Amino acid sequence: MAGKEAGGAVRVRALEAGYDKSHILFGVDFEAAPREITVIVGPNGCGKSTLLKSIFGMCAVYSGEILLDGASITGMAPHQVARKRVAYLPQVNNVFANLTIRENLAMAGYTVDRDAAAERLPHTMETFPDLKAHERSKASVLSGGQRQMLAMAISLIRRPHVMLFDEPTAGLSPKLAEQVISKIRQVNEEYGITVILVEQNVRRALSMGDMAYLLASGKNVFSGPPKELLGHPELGRMYLGIGGGPAGGGAVKGGKGGGPAAGEEAGAGAGKGGEKGGAGAGKGGEKAGAGAGEGGGRGKDGAGEGRPAAGGVRA
Ligand SMILES: Nc1ncnc2c1ncn2[C@@H]1O[C@H](COP(=O)(O)OP(=O)(O)OP(=O)(O)O)[C@@H](O)[C@H]1O
Ligand SMILES: [Mg+2]
Repeated sequence: MAGKEAGGAVRVRALEAGYDKSHILFGVDFEAAPREITVIVGPNGCGKSTLLKSIFGMCAVYSGEILLDGASITGMAPHQVARKRVAYLPQVNNVFANLTIRENLAMAGYTVDRDAAAERLPHTMETFPDLKAHERSKASVLSGGQRQMLAMAISLIRRPHVMLFDEPTAGLSPKLAEQVISKIRQVNEEYGITVILVEQNVRRALSMGDMAYLLASGKNVFSGPPKELLGHPELGRMYLGIGGGPAGGGAVKGGKGGGPAAGEEAGAGAGKGGEKGGAGAGKGGEKAGAGAGEGGGRGKDGAGEGRPAAGGVRA
């Protein structure tokens, strides 16, 4: 068990959250263990970013609880959550484009002890040799992948216990995306940081994760080992635009959550969405298409009250 020093356990319980009057998350349960990589996947608009933003204090939480190392951070403002050593890396606007790389990193130092920041800089630069080469260039000249690296480096100066990544590879070439992903893995291992990752490339994300969560229409659909989700005969096709296979031997455990009626409805709705989602994926998109979202939406209506068992499916 991680002590206070290690830190970085995130737990979300029965979260109802959204934006003012837009209710987006419905009873979401989520857990990220210290030093692990927990992956959140799901169709467009299902609430992945909203879950990250809720943890970071950027959404309205109507009810439920968000805990960091067992203590509530529910309703805290982003700057307060940041002080608890949680870093949020949005997909865009994550660096100061008009400042140099060095200046960007210096800015990070304003929120921590200046000496500590100066001490951490060399090691951070070693982690990102690409940035060192561009130290005096403006961040605006960096490639998308390098900007992500800089955003990571800025966060690392603050020595976070938890890093929330929202689609860090969006818009990047496969090669750059691979570099960013391997950096995330490296940072997770070297610094022992809890990583919560929302990622568009479902296969890649699931293959690097320790735990996986699938959301649809703001509700839990699956939580468990990523392999089980990857190998699931239906869920990948229904919600993620990937074909499920026998690998991992994941069987549907829908019965654990809702009753039989719930299972039927979810199945019917998801079937529709699955078709469209598949078509979207056929066009080369990594993300499940809007159709998958629709399927999730219908499925949602049939979702039962059951709680997601670890490794189980809430149908
Ligand atoms: N600031 C906002 N105000 C009101 N509604 C919002 C806001 N941001 C997002 N939403 C809505 O919340 C829902 C969930 O959005 P969210 O961004 O969490 O989805 P997502 O799963 O991250 O999708 P994507 O894969 O496209 O990034 C969507 O219906 C979206 O329109
Ligand atoms: Mg999003």
